[in-house]
Amino acid sequence: MIDAVGNPQSVLLLGGTSDIGLAIVQRYARQRPLRVVLAARPSARLEAAAERLMTLGCTVHSVPFDARDPNGHQTVVDKAFAHGDIDLAVVAFGVLGDQERAWQDVQVARELAEVNYVAPVSLGVLLAERMRAQGHGSIVALSSVAGERVRRSNFVYGSGKAGMDGFFLGLGEALRPHGVRVCVVRPGFVRTKMTDGLDAAPLSVTAEDVATAVVEGVRAGKELVWVPGPLRWVMSALRHVPRALFRRLPM
Ligand SMILES: NC(=O)c1ccc[n+]([C@@H]2O[C@H](COP(=O)([O-])OP(=O)(O)OC[C@H]3O[C@@H](n4cnc5c(N)ncnc54)[C@H](OP(=O)(O)O)[C@@H]3O)[C@@H](O)[C@H]2O)c1
Repeated sequence: MIDAVGNPQSVLLLGGTSDIGLAIVQRYARQRPLRVVLAARPSARLEAAAERLMTLGCTVHSVPFDARDPNGHQTVVDKAFAHGDIDLAVVAFGVLGDQERAWQDVQVARELAEVNYVAPVSLGVLLAERMRAQGHGSIVALSSVAGERVRRSNFVYGSGKAGMDGFFLGLGEALRPHGVRVCVVRPGFVRTKMTDGLDAAPLSVTAEDVATAVVEGVRAGKELVWVPGPLRWVMSALRHVPRALFRRLPM
């Protein structure tokens, strides 16, 4: 159960090596002892993440997870809940990819669509089933401002995020009567390994900034969190810019 001051006792991180996801888990781990399930593709990065969390006093279970294997999703969720209730599930996996290849190479386009949209929907349904059954829990879904108004420069990634964002907002409505909360998070440019080597966009933030906003958002029962907050107003304006003008903007 999430305790009286808003801290979970158990967290499932889907995308167990995500810089943002791990920053969120570490932020909670500094508040109280935590049982953590890291669902990820096996790698040295995953082992290092598990070791780091153990040094913070966490009990860590690792579960093999490949978003592109839809037949494995049920097993991932079953294994994640095998050690007890999950108070907070963070959907943190995603792939940015090479955007120019993505709209011209069907294999790349499919990978982005599967990882950024199909798998989050599949796992969202499975998490919802489990959390409804246990009668409590929160899901944090890492969306992106890229989905708020999809732009030419990254429309394959952005369209996946737009889809998963809409799905999790809707899932939050469906789960509300069952005592399960969903918090959709829309970060702007975050300096992580996903954006390594890219020029930082205005209003860029760190994974720790996102973690702070997520912990505060979940504690306050928010359904939608922008990071940083002012992006909400920037994107509200950009959403209504006419297409002819929008395509000329340097973004
Ligand atoms: N960084 C940003 O600017 C930014 C902005 C807005 C939203 N986001 C979103 O925030 C989330 C976390 O991103 P991040 O910045 O923390 O990036 P990250 O450190 O690169 O994390 C991405 C995660 O996705 C996992 N992943 C990729 N393909 C997978 C697959 N087929 N199966 C299982 N896991 C897979 C990676 O696992 P491996 O270690 O196995 O590759 C990694 O754990 C993503 O959904 C991203 O789209 C990021």
